[in-house]
Amino acid sequence: MTVKTMQTADVKDLLEKVAGFNQDGGDERVKKIVHRFMHDVFQLIEDFDVTPEEFWQAVYYVGDLGKNGEAALLAPGLGMDKYLDIRMDAEDEQAGLAGGTPRTIEGPLYVAGAPMSEGFARMDDGSDENAETMILTGQVTEENGNPLVNAVVDVWHANTMGNYSYFDQSQSEYNLRRRIRTDENGRYTAQSIIPAGYGCPPEGSTQALLNLLGRHGNRPAHIHFFISKSGFKHLTTQINLAGDEYTYDDFAFATREELVVEANRIDDPAQAEGYGLNKPFTKVEFNIQLVSTDKPELQSRHERKRALEGEAA
Ligand SMILES: [Fe+2]
Repeated sequence: MTVKTMQTADVKDLLEKVAGFNQDGGDERVKKIVHRFMHDVFQLIEDFDVTPEEFWQAVYYVGDLGKNGEAALLAPGLGMDKYLDIRMDAEDEQAGLAGGTPRTIEGPLYVAGAPMSEGFARMDDGSDENAETMILTGQVTEENGNPLVNAVVDVWHANTMGNYSYFDQSQSEYNLRRRIRTDENGRYTAQSIIPAGYGCPPEGSTQALLNLLGRHGNRPAHIHFFISKSGFKHLTTQINLAGDEYTYDDFAFATREELVVEANRIDDPAQAEGYGLNKPFTKVEFNIQLVSTDKPELQSRHERKRALEGEAA
């Protein structure tokens, strides 16, 4: 039988002391949030009659999560990144800033300061000779369809093993990471390789919890983007390649219908030659529409800890 203790004076008093309500120093907002958070944890323990064994298991789980560096991987797996997107979409709607290409989650694997190119970039270092060549191209426009010149398209994706350079030290520096400034027609083009999807580390903390939920930890093949231009809302998004087993079953909840893009095999030698290639390739076209805003705080990406952020130009 579950005992009820949450309404007792002892527990109320304990929660207030925990949150520092009886202290002058500290941060008021943090105090309120911690008070609410711990109240809800206590309530959960009561409602589910959590045993000490279960409780300590959870404490050590959090410790392991930090040790494995997986906190920012578990977050999207539990829908938190997606939830923040849902909130930002609703805020945009309310501010009359909806429309344009939809946002989706950033993920934890961006590295700042990738080399900048004008109009075209070769993204792969050529070391994977068995990879399928990808031509990734598109136009950046404003809402009325006018091309946006000098928009910065910051692209990053995994290799054929599903690994990202920097985090995978076996890859060359900034492999599969580039920034491309759009040309006079608002176009960007990248030559790269078709990425593979990937899964959470099988022995990691994230997968351990997903197993208990009966869920897999896989993502479809995808390509990440930041797109920015002064006077326009910064866009964080990614495309999922159509036809992947997980295109509509992404453990990180990043898929949006408008962001599923066909990957088309092109065998026509004339088209290959147009891109300086002498073999068939796969073309991925992603056009991007930005929404104008005069609010400077909406024109750059929100702050979070990112690899090499603030160190590279
Ligand atoms: Fe990713």
